[in-house]
Amino acid sequence: MKEAKQMSVSAIENGTVIDHVPAKNLFKVIQILGLDRIDNQITFGTNLESKKLGRKAIIKITGVFFEDEDINRIALVAPDAKLNIIRDYEVVEKKVVEVPDTIVGIAKCMNPKCITNFESVTTRFRVVSKKNVSLKCHYCEKITTQENMEII
Ligand code: CTP
Ligand code: ZN
Repeated sequence: MKEAKQMSVSAIENGTVIDHVPAKNLFKVIQILGLDRIDNQITFGTNLESKKLGRKAIIKITGVFFEDEDINRIALVAPDAKLNIIRDYEVVEKKVVEVPDTIVGIAKCMNPKCITNFESVTTRFRVVSKKNVSLKCHYCEKITTQENMEII
């Protein structure tokens, strides 16, 4: 049996560890942060046990330190994510994600008649509620709630 303390993915020297990502949204986080398009070393583990999330994923990116603005883009798919900033193998800072005031791309407008659903226009929303996330479309003004939110 595995030791409880054992790390599932090895430690990194410098970079960012994103912990508490819901396993089902791991690849969405990778896509939103553009991790599929960088040359840095990335390791991840998924379907790890988590008391809070059931199954979580963890992503370790060597040599990358994100701007808060970029990191907050994952709030819709990983609201409980914890970021650990690593320097010289030590955790020097911990951050949580915050739902931003506006969301560009990422989510689909639930209004089938919205221009964003039949022309190639990037979706754009104002966040009208951060707790139970609900988004107001910049184009059609319809509200997309968490329940009917579809991630693009
Ligand atoms: N970590 C890492 N490389 C390091 C140091 C830490 O990959 N050089 C990872 C750990 O594996 C862990 C995360 O960064 O997943 C946070 O590290 P730490 O704060 O030491 O762990 P915990 O106390 O378990 O964090 P928390 O309870 O805040 O989730
Ligand atoms: Zn719309």
